[in-house]
Amino acid sequence: MKQNGEKISMITSYDFSMAKIVDAAGIDIILVGDSAANVMAGYETTLPITLDMMIYHGRCVTRAVKRAFVVVDMPFGSYQGDPKLALASAVRIMKETEADGVKLEGGIEVLESIKMITAAGIPVMGHLGLTPQSIHKFGTYGVRAKGDAEADKLIHDAQLLSDAGCFGIVLEKIPSALATRVTKEVPVPVIGIGAGAGTDGQVLVVHDMLGINKGFSPKFLRRYADLHTIMTEAVEHYIDDVKSGDFPNENECY
Ligand code: KIV
Repeated sequence: MKQNGEKISMITSYDFSMAKIVDAAGIDIILVGDSAANVMAGYETTLPITLDMMIYHGRCVTRAVKRAFVVVDMPFGSYQGDPKLALASAVRIMKETEADGVKLEGGIEVLESIKMITAAGIPVMGHLGLTPQSIHKFGTYGVRAKGDAEADKLIHDAQLLSDAGCFGIVLEKIPSALATRVTKEVPVPVIGIGAGAGTDGQVLVVHDMLGINKGFSPKFLRRYADLHTIMTEAVEHYIDDVKSGDFPNENECY
């Protein structure tokens, strides 16, 4: 698709029903993101989600998917600093979820882990720029790589990830010009989130783009629906009907 100039669509899902809708709509890649920690479990950061929890979400998604490529995020603590642990975690994800690949965050720091996982035949997607598992190092969820030093490191890291066999790279919340440059320089597909229009594809968190989650409004987010309002009104309507005795009517009884 990169070679043909066809943009790649990617979106997150964490459960069977959502994945079924997203897959049937024709999405190219479904990411079982560790953003499940935020949108499914209500944690402030992505750090608390465990490998077992990610495997649970991954399994729910792959059961629903008939055609999209499914990538499962490796959670914080399941790969950093120990390539053997990284391989064991990736193998568990692939065996227990039947996903098509894994994604992990970081550049040169996790290169040995990436090499070990790809050597085992497991497709790996990289993730650079704003890497939410490092929030306590960054201190904020602001735009990354605005300065030359961080931008140079990101360009170098992207090349290293590509050379190490990553099949694709997510670039999160970096200046558009930098994302466009990386996209041109690496041979593998680059998927952006808050990285402008020059990447090979885009990814959004499904709860954000459907407007289920109204408390998160970064500049890069486009909302395609207002499900928060639709769902709230539907539940309010149901409550009214139950209270008034309107539901169930005689056609809704046995
Ligand atoms: O966990 C996630 O949803 C992600 C995307 C934001 C790329 O990593």
